[in-house]
Amino acid sequence: MNEQMNEQDWSSKKYCILTYGCQMNVSDSEVLSGHLETMGYSPANSEEDADLLLINTCAVRQKAEEKVLSKLGRLRSLKKKNPAMLLVIWGCMVQQKDIAEQISSRYKFVDLIGGPHSLERFPQLLEKARTSSKTVIDINDEGEGERDHLHIKRGHGFKAWVPISHGCNNYCTYCIVPYVRGPERSRSPERIIHEVSELTKNGYKEITLLGQNVNSYGKDIKGGLDFADLLQRLDDMEGLARIRYMTSHPRDFSDKIIRMIEKSRNICEHFHLPVQSGSNKILKLMNRGYTREYYLELINKIKSRVGHCSITSDIIIGFPGEEEADFQDTLDLLQRVQFDAAYIFIYSPRKGTKATAMADQVDPEIKKERIKKLNKIQGKIGLGKNRQLLGTKQEILVEEKSKTNPEMLTGRTRTNKVVHFSAGENLLGQLVDVEIIEAKSWTLTGQYLP
Ligand code: 5AD
Ligand code: SF4
Repeated sequence: MNEQMNEQDWSSKKYCILTYGCQMNVSDSEVLSGHLETMGYSPANSEEDADLLLINTCAVRQKAEEKVLSKLGRLRSLKKKNPAMLLVIWGCMVQQKDIAEQISSRYKFVDLIGGPHSLERFPQLLEKARTSSKTVIDINDEGEGERDHLHIKRGHGFKAWVPISHGCNNYCTYCIVPYVRGPERSRSPERIIHEVSELTKNGYKEITLLGQNVNSYGKDIKGGLDFADLLQRLDDMEGLARIRYMTSHPRDFSDKIIRMIEKSRNICEHFHLPVQSGSNKILKLMNRGYTREYYLELINKIKSRVGHCSITSDIIIGFPGEEEADFQDTLDLLQRVQFDAAYIFIYSPRKGTKATAMADQVDPEIKKERIKKLNKIQGKIGLGKNRQLLGTKQEILVEEKSKTNPEMLTGRTRTNKVVHFSAGENLLGQLVDVEIIEAKSWTLTGQYLP
């Protein structure tokens, strides 16, 4: 397709990666960027500027897939103008065979389609795509290799994503992840500890351990560490200020993990515990493996053991069979827990999952009404929680210049709350103290305390 490219201009090429979806995709994009830079590419200033455009896709909800398809429609003309540009469609969406085939037949100008399992093979696949007249497709689910020997182009110099496991064994009935990312595979603890230790030596202050269900880490490694043991080993590491982890499954959030966090030095006091629904009937249909009573007890345990913590959640509205009484149970749970924030999603049927075939799909209008109501109530709860912080001193890791006001900086508290404040750019990447002077539902404003 791109025979006109020769070895000489290969090294002056520019790339651009667009990433949709979760932090695991962000982390995969860092590996892909690393591959490209090792091959001589450098970052482009914009999509139009790029000699290679890679879209790292998500399959969790239909909306994310629609965005990619409409983007592909728009890319047809860009590709016509610049036929030498390489176009790569990557990730969970195209791990679905029917979608990979649909894209390769409808958008013949796509050069390479690769699934999340093909990360390590990317350089060879790209080389093949560069000289092939057809779209190269690799959605072979033979597992990804280890990342130790790869150059990873990290998005920041002070906070880093570190995958601890890949895939998921839970088969929640609405979720596509186990089908596209495969069964759970834990990375070896030695490799994780080595990666974190290297990051710490290089001045990284915060690491986030990633997995679809971090709490079940290690169950597939005989005689290995479990998640609490792994946290313990990382907490002992000198120089690391903050440890985060995502995502947790409430069913596997053991007392041992809570006790570990309670006595830890560096593990942040933020618990993201997706509840998905407050109704026992719906939780059962979702195959979540816990009841609302169990969840409420878990929250009480956490609140009583870990002071000044924040608790956030994911909720799905309009799962098949959700009646008004089930929705009321979710509202009631929200009021009881008082989440600091909740990400509320409308149920999106995913081909191949059990829930898609379930009876009693909820009317789209009812879904819209319910999400509106829930967001409004959660907005008030979040505001109330944030107001409790007015006048308090908070430690912030300064992450970036504010997107809305370039005079301001943005950082996060240990409890993962976003704080905007005025100070010099020299503080980027530093841990600083601020006093909270304004609270909104989703963000805080602080005053820098030098
Ligand atoms: N529809 C809507 N939301 C979903 N999630 C996962 N699958 C679906 C789906 N089919 C949500 C869950 C999960 C979050 C990452 O995305 O709440 O925790
Ligand atoms: Fe999906 Fe459930 Fe696994 Fe999370 S735990 S990735 S929701 S199947």
